[in-house]
Amino acid sequence: MSGPDDASGSAIGKALCAGTATLRQAGIDQPRHEARLLLEAASGLSPAAQLSDRHAALADATLQSFHRLVARRAAQEPVSRILGRREFWSLAFAVTPDTLDPRPDTETVVEAVLAARPDRAAPLRVLDLGTGTGCIVLALLHEYRHALGVAVDRSPAAIAVAQGNARALGLADRFLPLAGDWAAALTGAFDVIVSNPPYIPGGEIAGLAPEVRCHDPRDALDGGADGLDAYRALASCVARHIAPDGVIALEVGAGQAPAVAALLSAAHLRIHDIRADLAGIPRCVVAGQQPG
Ligand SMILES: C[S@@+](CC[C@H](N)C(=O)[O-])C[C@H]1O[C@@H](n2cnc3c(N)ncnc32)[C@H](O)[C@@H]1O
Repeated sequence: MSGPDDASGSAIGKALCAGTATLRQAGIDQPRHEARLLLEAASGLSPAAQLSDRHAALADATLQSFHRLVARRAAQEPVSRILGRREFWSLAFAVTPDTLDPRPDTETVVEAVLAARPDRAAPLRVLDLGTGTGCIVLALLHEYRHALGVAVDRSPAAIAVAQGNARALGLADRFLPLAGDWAAALTGAFDVIVSNPPYIPGGEIAGLAPEVRCHDPRDALDGGADGLDAYRALASCVARHIAPDGVIALEVGAGQAPAVAALLSAAHLRIHDIRADLAGIPRCVVAGQQPG
């Protein structure tokens, strides 16, 4: 009996087998799944169509394009970078070399805000500092249908990507992207402030997996000598811009939650919660103004 990728005589099946073998040899975790995604990108055939049409032939140009994509993945380029898109909060985001590839862990920040502000009809003013693709603030605008979002990034190229994502998601009319240094150019108060700032200690970047080290922008990773430089800048800035009953949700790296909570406390903020990601790692520090 033949399995799904047993392709005796079939170009699609054979190509998938060969692509899967190359990725497996390169140490890729889910070689068959990723080979299917890459074949979809090269041929336009969905994984379901690849299965049902596994005996169909592929055009030479399609096959060559598939081989090129497999070679890129085998050289440790993430699939999301090759495809130029990543799913976050079940929404599709364009990613480019100018943006961090959004991580599932960052959904913890979205969950923290939803838990703190359960009323989805609230007309919240949301500020995202270091927005990258815009994934956090756009996920929040998707959930809060009357919210307005301001997104800041030091990289004008990232801001352009975030703006494109807002348009593609139909959220651009409630979204204001700004290039700048954290909240330096902003006045006024926000009901929600979120951030996933760079937090990798600079000296550790060289030891990261090639998928990260070679493909995420350095400016999105480097948190200075101890990884906490951005939080030092953000603590006073979020204290200045949070509304009296507003919620601050900051993503943190593994082991950083106590230090970040201490920085926010020193800025006269009150820590409400430290929320763990799906792996149980404390991932998001939730804070607000001191009462009174
Ligand atoms: C870790 S990435 C997070 C991107 C996105 N929020 C996400 O979660 O995928 C940090 C972002 O902060 C931006 N950034 C770094 N320093 C900044 C600064 N001083 N002011 C504004 N943005 C900054 C980087 O360009 C990068 O896009």
